Amino acid sequence: MFERFLSKDVSNLRSSEIRDLLKLTEGKKVISLAGGLPDPTTFPVEEIRKITDDVLREKSDRALQYSTTSGITEFKKELVNLSRYRGISGINENNTFVTVGSQEALFMIFNLLVDPGDTVIVEMPTYLAALNILRARKPNFIGVHLTQNGPDLDELERKVKESISNGKKPKLMYVIPTAQNPGGTTMSLDDRKRLLEIAQKYDFLLIEDDAYGFLVFDGEAPPPLISLDKEGRVIYTSTFSKILAPGLRLGWVIAQEEFIREMELYKQNIDLHTPTLTQMIAMEAIKRGVIQNQLPLIRRVYREKRDVMLAAIEKYFPKEATWSRPVGGMFVFAWLPEKIDTVKMLEESMRRGVAYVPGSSFYHDYSGRNTMRLNFSYPTKQELEEGIKILGNTILDFLK
Ligand SMILES: Cc1ncc(COP(=O)(O)O)c(C=O)c1O
Repeated sequence: MFERFLSKDVSNLRSSEIRDLLKLTEGKKVISLAGGLPDPTTFPVEEIRKITDDVLREKSDRALQYSTTSGITEFKKELVNLSRYRGISGINENNTFVTVGSQEALFMIFNLLVDPGDTVIVEMPTYLAALNILRARKPNFIGVHLTQNGPDLDELERKVKESISNGKKPKLMYVIPTAQNPGGTTMSLDDRKRLLEIAQKYDFLLIEDDAYGFLVFDGEAPPPLISLDKEGRVIYTSTFSKILAPGLRLGWVIAQEEFIREMELYKQNIDLHTPTLTQMIAMEAIKRGVIQNQLPLIRRVYREKRDVMLAAIEKYFPKEATWSRPVGGMFVFAWLPEKIDTVKMLEESMRRGVAYVPGSSFYHDYSGRNTMRLNFSYPTKQELEEGIKILGNTILDFLK
């Protein structure tokens, strides 16, 4: 009934075929490698309970009141402190902006910057929900394939040049340099520097999504692009979803003040401000060292689960397949022999008891039909082993 009344902006937002298929897993005994949820055993429940009690006892008049659009100043100062752990310095609270998850940050950034027909660059594959925000802006996409070490920068430069010679100068690139979702790849320091040089040479913005920056469990995380940027070309976003709890719905942006002011005007139209109570909880969590103390545990849990998944893939996947070996984050991405169509295989896989996300969902042009994303953060270790075994056998049967 309402379809004919919908605005043009939303009328092409449709639930994907795959989401509908995955819904079939609800209530059934299917091992889901399809999700993207953190392991709930990593939530510091007692600490959050104590903080919430204290905040409501001592600061309820502020915590339950309206607050400023860009975020509570005291919280933004803590974000500046937290960012130092990620190697980001030389910023102050006026460069930070608090959002309802980094999802809202991405929604705001893309809506502030992208007009229909603008040229935007994305990784192939890239984060689905960001892609969907971009799709609604109806841009001209340039896709750059991932190698095992992040986006192929030769391909990027070639495609950018080609696009410029066709009169389509790119405006921005959306990039997840560390523990990419879904790719599981991490860019080297040299590649990060080169990406910045390319962005400078051809004059486009870099939208850096650092959702997993604190979640690197093998060695040190390479510095984020924004820490290497001397021109203010990078707009950075990160989230509390992976380092505290996603239910708080808290993310943040770091950028030039000029851009932060634009965000402020826009957010007034969206939701006035991010909930004051959750900001105060997260602020205390930083001040009391809860996040800093929790990170080693989160990293250990995910490292162990990653190891279980990789060992099982090694054992059960066909030798022609390749897959990422993530140093952080929550996902492994697999490239299967071309003969396999992972969209077509999903139903059979689910019948046998395992769900995954077909990789084509993460490609702006729905290519990558032979790829899949596998989540290791949420399932138990037994489910990971069992799930990959079933999946490996399904793939082998489809290769026959
Ligand atoms: C790469 C990436 N960016 C952004 C988000 C959004 O997370 P949130 O809105 O919970 O901050 C996610 C969530 O999975 C993600 O994987």
